[in-house]
Amino acid sequence: MTYAAITGWGKCLPPAVLTNDDLSTFLDTSDEWIVSRTGMRERRVSHVPAIEMSVVAASQALACAGLEGKDVDLIIYGSCSNDEGVPNSASGVQIALGATHAAAMDVNTACTSFCYGLATATAMIRSGMVKNAVVIGVELISRFLDWSNRNVAVLFGDGAAAVVLQASETEEGLIGTALGCDAEARETLRVRGLGLCYANSDVRFGDTLWDFDGQVIFKRAVHAMTEASKRVLLECGKTPDQIDLVVPHQANLRIIESVAKYSGIPMERVMVTVHKYGNMSAATVPVALVEALEEGRVTPGGYILMPAFGGGLTYCSLLVKWGDRVTPLGTSSRILPPCTETALQMVNAVRAVHDAHGSSHAGLMAPEFVETALAL
Ligand code: ACO
Repeated sequence: MTYAAITGWGKCLPPAVLTNDDLSTFLDTSDEWIVSRTGMRERRVSHVPAIEMSVVAASQALACAGLEGKDVDLIIYGSCSNDEGVPNSASGVQIALGATHAAAMDVNTACTSFCYGLATATAMIRSGMVKNAVVIGVELISRFLDWSNRNVAVLFGDGAAAVVLQASETEEGLIGTALGCDAEARETLRVRGLGLCYANSDVRFGDTLWDFDGQVIFKRAVHAMTEASKRVLLECGKTPDQIDLVVPHQANLRIIESVAKYSGIPMERVMVTVHKYGNMSAATVPVALVEALEEGRVTPGGYILMPAFGGGLTYCSLLVKWGDRVTPLGTSSRILPPCTETALQMVNAVRAVHDAHGSSHAGLMAPEFVETALAL
């Protein structure tokens, strides 16, 4: 039987750090509130497009696996914040990596995009369709975040990470998959302003209004990730005590603690990065996985559980059996260009553009076509 081993991993965190105190300079919030309600202390703001972060992360992952771009058959780009709609983003990564033979596909299931991409690439390798794949989780949310809304502005950050999958005859890689979608709650998280129903209206691209019911999402996220984790463990004949490490989606420390508790796994075996990076949506799980490897928390042959949820509300829990190698075969010299501004300066620049053009929030609510499209 063919499996899809994870043989390479790499991350790209933009260097500019936005602290809770930075947020307090323009929002009615505080470090105390943000830390106690979310566990977040700081997050990153990118000075480059998302594709550029992805290319650095993917180059690192390829070097880690000892592969070159020309060896890649498939690139899956998991994100809900694509630089452009057309051309797709995976094609931009393909050309930068010199992966001329690779199929290039974008996957958007919001925060679960990397996990859904990992499941898709694994299935394609196991079916014999492709041999080597790069799966990316990346997000550049700072450009379309509604920085005037404290309910969401404090929660998100930018970043990217990638893994390389290779066909293997040894049982390793993704061995169990529970995917689902709690679509009844899709209204609880909507970014008005993103999407074609706003085209040719008076909405300026990037000017967004977030419909966001944090408390409902919180409860449904805990329930969905816990149930998906129980399902995948049952299907694979594993018990919680056999899980060496949980690498969960990082939307809120309290959500992570609740999922760990209800899944019967102590926090000592849970990877947490939310304090450093906030919620990077599709990038959170792969960044946490890369950092777990860097910190020596992934053991050869160990079992890793990856529960996640995102807008939709899509959810999943993946069970990975790690292979023998936990260290990179090589490293890439590809890095981001220097950043000359602070994170707060970049955020203030986005806010200034919005203010200069006048908020088009009214347009986000009004046009009949938009309301009809959203009601579907
Ligand atoms: N600073 C200060 N006060 C705030 C802030 C802030 N940044 N944001 C909200 N508040 C206020 C609220 O206005 C409210 O005030 P009120 O009682 O006077 O009305 C009060 O704090 C309490 O708000 P709650 O919503 O009860 O706070 P809660 O403990 O539920 O935490 C949070 C809110 C952090 C959003 C939590 O519900 C959560 O994490 N939800 C899920 C997160 C999420 O959805 N992430 C995105 C998922 S999808 C994806 O990952 C892309």
